[in-house]
Amino acid sequence: MTDALKLGFGNFAAPAKAGPSGVLVVFCDDALKLGPATRNTLGSTATLVARAAKAERFTGKKNTALELVIPEGLKVGRLVVIGVGKAGELKAKDILRLGGLAMGKLPTAASDATIFAELPGGAMKPDQVADLAQGVRLRAYSFDRYKTKRKDEEKPPATRSVTIVTGDIAAARKAYDPRAAISDGVLLARDLVNEPANILYPEEFARRASALKKLRVSVEVLDIKAMKKLGMNALLGVGQGSARDSRVVVMRWNGGKAGDAPVAFIGKGVCFDTGGISIKPAAGMEDMKGDMAGAACVVGLLHALAARKARVNAVGVIGVVENMPDGNAQRPGDIVKSMSGQTIEIINTDAEGRLVLADVIWYTAQRFKPKFMVDLATLTGAIIVALGQEYAGMFCNNDQLAERLTKAGTETGELVWRMPLAPEYDKMIDSKFADMKNTGGSRWGGAITAAQFIKRFVDDKIPWAHLDIAGTGFDSRQTDINRSWGSGWGVRLLDRLVADHYER
Ligand code: BES
Ligand code: MN
Ligand code: ZN
Repeated sequence: MTDALKLGFGNFAAPAKAGPSGVLVVFCDDALKLGPATRNTLGSTATLVARAAKAERFTGKKNTALELVIPEGLKVGRLVVIGVGKAGELKAKDILRLGGLAMGKLPTAASDATIFAELPGGAMKPDQVADLAQGVRLRAYSFDRYKTKRKDEEKPPATRSVTIVTGDIAAARKAYDPRAAISDGVLLARDLVNEPANILYPEEFARRASALKKLRVSVEVLDIKAMKKLGMNALLGVGQGSARDSRVVVMRWNGGKAGDAPVAFIGKGVCFDTGGISIKPAAGMEDMKGDMAGAACVVGLLHALAARKARVNAVGVIGVVENMPDGNAQRPGDIVKSMSGQTIEIINTDAEGRLVLADVIWYTAQRFKPKFMVDLATLTGAIIVALGQEYAGMFCNNDQLAERLTKAGTETGELVWRMPLAPEYDKMIDSKFADMKNTGGSRWGGAITAAQFIKRFVDDKIPWAHLDIAGTGFDSRQTDINRSWGSGWGVRLLDRLVADHYER
């Protein structure tokens, strides 16, 4: 849900229409140098900026800002000068972040802002203007649909309009179009992650995914009967303790060559994870409404691909369940037969995500014979111990796919770090009673044994990557491009992977 933001592009020639509640944002480098159009607009106010910079010890370092209230000589109520450091070194993800920073400098009361898309060397290139705009858009998002009481000073204006001024409006718009599609996908994913589990249970999740039909994505929903027929007993076992029925949702976007094998994305969609009979402790359990961040990313990604009409065939398959303790819930010691035919001894009912993925991955591979598969899952606390919230863990059976994901990660700032897979870890999930057990027994290497489990459902002929996003899918850090809890992590990463390598 966006904070009613009106984002538009304007010309350098007609800047800063704003009155006292308006904000003007400009950029300077670490020599405090401003661009020519900026200097022109600031006129004598530039001297004021130089004096304020000295007083505030503002040096134009990257991602720092200087703010002047009621700047003499300008009509706006506030002038914000944002440092970019060395302008020549700015990458796309840096510009994105600057856009977020700029949006963050709008006081709650401000109704409109003008951002000068100019660097000291001159106008930003269309792609840079578009990255800046995307940063604004991502930062403007807030999830406040359940806030009914807010103090006056916390109330944002009904609409906020942000105009990004540039040298070439048409080129900026053209470059922004696909980024707007991607941003919508990110915000959709955030909405799903932020939504509480009493509202967003599996059937409702499937309904929301079905809204992609509007973008000509074909959406199929498998109900319990269909899943039973397919033999998805690993997934069904997880959901059997819940009053809410499980679902599998299959989304298909066909923008590529007819008959060309699709790329496939698979998401863990545990709408709430209590742990089941192996119940979790109370502290922090509310976070487990976000245990569907993998599925949310897949829905957001399919939205992005369809909305920007990506020239690729893509499928998204998500397993949506709720993991609850109940008289009918699965027990430790139970043995289930997965769709693949392999049997699984349940040691811990809280290791449920891998059970869901086992059937959904097997199903996707059988049905679609994809070019590659990437699954996303908030799978283990262990990956947070290993990597914190900066990198997602990546497990991959194919070096080329791993390299491509790593590169897409550095480009977008959604970082992945490759983790090992090896027979020694695989041995740890052998079971006394069944083909495998659902935990490694020890907490050591917990993210790896989880990945080894999933790997047993993947044919090595298909390139596959598993992204453990337990640390990145939701987070309470406030970043320059996200102030909400759900991050929408992975939408930009995977869109980039597709754009760089798989479009015709
Ligand atoms: N959904 C959790 C993992 C998780 C933890 C995600 C924290 C996000 C934040 C997962 O289903 C789980 O409970 N994993 C267990 C596995 C264990 C029982 C082998 C874990 O990590 O403790
Ligand atoms: Mn769990
Ligand atoms: Zn879980």
